[in-house]
Amino acid sequence: MRIGSVKEIKNNEFRVGLTPDNVKAYVSHGHEVFIEKGAGIGSGFTDEEYLHAGAKLMDHAKEVWDTVEMMVKVKEPLEEEYPYFHDGLILYTYLHLAADKPQMDALLEGKIKGVAYETLQEKDGSLPLLIPMSQIAGRLSIQEGAKYLERTFGGRGVLLAGVPGTPKANVVILGGGTVGTNACKIAVGMGANVTVIDISLKRLAQLEDQFGFRIQTLVSTDANIENAVKNADLVVGAVLIPGKATPKLFKKQYLKGMKPGAVFVDVAVDQGGCGETTKVTTHDNPIFIEEGIVHYCVGNMPGAVPRTSTIALTNATLQYGLQIADKGLEKAALDNPAIALAINTYDGKLTCKNVADSFEGYEYTKIESVLA
Ligand SMILES: NC(=O)c1ccc[n+]([C@@H]2O[C@H](COP(=O)([O-])OP(=O)(O)OC[C@H]3O[C@@H](n4cnc5c(N)ncnc54)[C@H](O)[C@@H]3O)[C@@H](O)[C@H]2O)c1
Repeated sequence: MRIGSVKEIKNNEFRVGLTPDNVKAYVSHGHEVFIEKGAGIGSGFTDEEYLHAGAKLMDHAKEVWDTVEMMVKVKEPLEEEYPYFHDGLILYTYLHLAADKPQMDALLEGKIKGVAYETLQEKDGSLPLLIPMSQIAGRLSIQEGAKYLERTFGGRGVLLAGVPGTPKANVVILGGGTVGTNACKIAVGMGANVTVIDISLKRLAQLEDQFGFRIQTLVSTDANIENAVKNADLVVGAVLIPGKATPKLFKKQYLKGMKPGAVFVDVAVDQGGCGETTKVTTHDNPIFIEEGIVHYCVGNMPGAVPRTSTIALTNATLQYGLQIADKGLEKAALDNPAIALAINTYDGKLTCKNVADSFEGYEYTKIESVLA
């Protein structure tokens, strides 16, 4: 198969769909890989590395789009890219169609086989192409929180671990899933006092098994959250109820009772956030202060570390990409239901139920009926 990747053109997006190591893997399976010149620079991969890996470099994105049978990207295509669509092209990337009707219409009209990272789901319900980004955001939440606790940024001026003879910082993590567990790892590793609050007792038990008595676990109630945040130096929002807006567990009225200069990192901001005072911020301007509490609410936190993010994402996307390239999308999807679930659009048909349910007047077609 002819496979390719282009430079991402979305504002502040420095990740890339294929690394030089990915190129080597596709080439070793007998495929041809085409890369737009400079596509990997934002993630620290040079054109020479792609060449050595066996890729063919092209000067312009259009040439790559025109040449390939499968385009591997990170972000959804933007309007400027729609004219490059060609009948039957496999587009393997994050699509997030439920929030983007113009893109959905363009994919249907262009008869694109749209394979979305975010709906690729394994039998156990896990979403393997979302997990790496949650791992990164969770780990970053403590790094960013530690930075904004510094006085220069309006923080309390405390060091997470303290030093002998001084109090350690108190870190409260709301939600103990992938983001929360990764935040917990780093906070424990940095020597803070850590409290994790979750609605699931099973999840709390798993966390206690993992971290032993180094953490405090609490069940999620308004009273427990209010009490815990009163003494917190850093609060991390990591709650998710799949398919629903995040519950506003961190209430505005709690801010007055907190220590001035404490930091709130709301990782869940991309689903609406779990703070009543949460407002989306960007890497250019990541924080604001309300009631003396520093708020960090960046919706695409992994963008801060594009090299790690690219490697983590492509570690997860490669195995499914190879199945598609080796067998063709149709056979790969018939053999592996996780890939079938990722197909959102196929030959002008909308094949993802959740996306179809998000809009009126769009008919849902079961992917199995198209592939059969
Ligand atoms: N800002 C970013 O850049 C970024 C990056 C990755 C993920 N995220 C977001 O982070 C959030 C968390 O993602 P995740 O992968 O950890 O999800 P997850 O499903 O692994 O974990 C969510 C946790 O929230 C818990 N929860 C649900 N309701 C709760 C309640 N009322 N009180 C306490 N806990 C509750 C669940 O039991 C679960 O353990 C999501 O909104 C995700 O989209 C943001």
